[in-house]
Amino acid sequence: MAGKDWDAAQYLKFEAERTRPVRDLLAQLPLTSPKRIVDLGCGPGNSTEVLVKHFPQAHITGLDSSPDMIEKARKRLPDLDFTIGDLSSFEQKEPSDLLYSNAVYQWVPYDQRMQIFTRLIQSQAPGGVFAFQVPDNFNEPSHEAMRAVADEGPWAEDLRRVTTFRKAFQSPQELYDKLKPLCSEINIWHTYYYHILEDHQAIVEWVKGTGLRPYLDQLSSFDQESFTKEYLKRVEKSYRPLVDGKVCLRYPRLFLVAVRA
Ligand SMILES: C[S@@+](CC[C@H](N)C(=O)[O-])C[C@H]1O[C@@H](n2cnc3c(N)ncnc32)[C@H](O)[C@@H]1O
Repeated sequence: MAGKDWDAAQYLKFEAERTRPVRDLLAQLPLTSPKRIVDLGCGPGNSTEVLVKHFPQAHITGLDSSPDMIEKARKRLPDLDFTIGDLSSFEQKEPSDLLYSNAVYQWVPYDQRMQIFTRLIQSQAPGGVFAFQVPDNFNEPSHEAMRAVADEGPWAEDLRRVTTFRKAFQSPQELYDKLKPLCSEINIWHTYYYHILEDHQAIVEWVKGTGLRPYLDQLSSFDQESFTKEYLKRVEKSYRPLVDGKVCLRYPRLFLVAVRA
């Protein structure tokens, strides 16, 4: 679903937390010295930077559909090639050793994902790796609260498309069944992160950079403010403060590493 451009600065307010799964995914790759890597949905270059440090000898490029994100990535890593482009039409000219993607495919429409995964894996040479991580938080209180506020406010009709568009990510079983015929090996796992944030407002700030965007993008600035206030009230009810007044944002993430047969 097309929306307004990303806001790289808002996204990077939680850079450390958002970048942690980049390293956790890297730790499971069955590769020692890949020569060519593409960071698909590279965002502001935070994931690309980790790839550069981990594989300093590799030729690494980045692709993202957001001009704001690509501008930040180019500033951050001026020696690398970054391209503005859409994953749905991305084709590599020659196979790379690693097609890497952190926190991107949840933004690709549900019905297109499997087709994209299949095409990417098929474009790899035997032994080539396709690896991704996505948040798997559709049923977390933070996301249930978004849907409830969207459904119950005066904006319900305007937001109907957003609420019906969003679904849980494909299950590990669905991913395995579809992709295994193309692969010699598939490794799938979940990690639950428990992010300790300052207060409930911090949860709002976190999702304003990601999951709340499709809702807010559809609203006037007046309604954006009312929606955000209602959302904060819900979040306050759903997340009990910790002993020191902070809050714990539970954040499940799904990882997949596939090796081309
Ligand atoms: C949550 S950010 C992830 C950024 C970075 N990879 C990281 O590890 O933090 C998601 C990125 O995916 C990009 N994106 C979403 N849909 C895309 C598509 N269809 N094609 C290319 N990039 C896309 C967005 O522009 C955004 O920069």
